[in-house]
Amino acid sequence: MVLVDGKTCKVAVFVCVNDRPIERVSCAKVGGLEFYQQLKERVKTLGLHQSHWITRTGCLGFCNSTGTTVAVFKTGKDPIWYNEVKMEHLETIWKEINS
Ligand code: FES
Repeated sequence: MVLVDGKTCKVAVFVCVNDRPIERVSCAKVGGLEFYQQLKERVKTLGLHQSHWITRTGCLGFCNSTGTTVAVFKTGKDPIWYNEVKMEHLETIWKEINS
């Protein structure tokens, strides 16, 4: 095991992109991958990739048929979880990430 230097990370965001190849709901079916890609692209465009770690994940346990699940972990703050997230919520979550 090797320790990773994560000191540059100010915020870590997990976006569920889980895709179930069956009828059961999953975040890929409600825009999870698109939300992740938009967030990742914004961080990349703004050159914030060292401090803003955006990660796509498997199921985070809050599956629904409305929107994806997003978890925001900011240094020194309590985690914030969002469920039923749609693309229209991108700006709200972006503000939270940077507040
Ligand atoms: S599939 Fe995304 S929370 Fe379960």
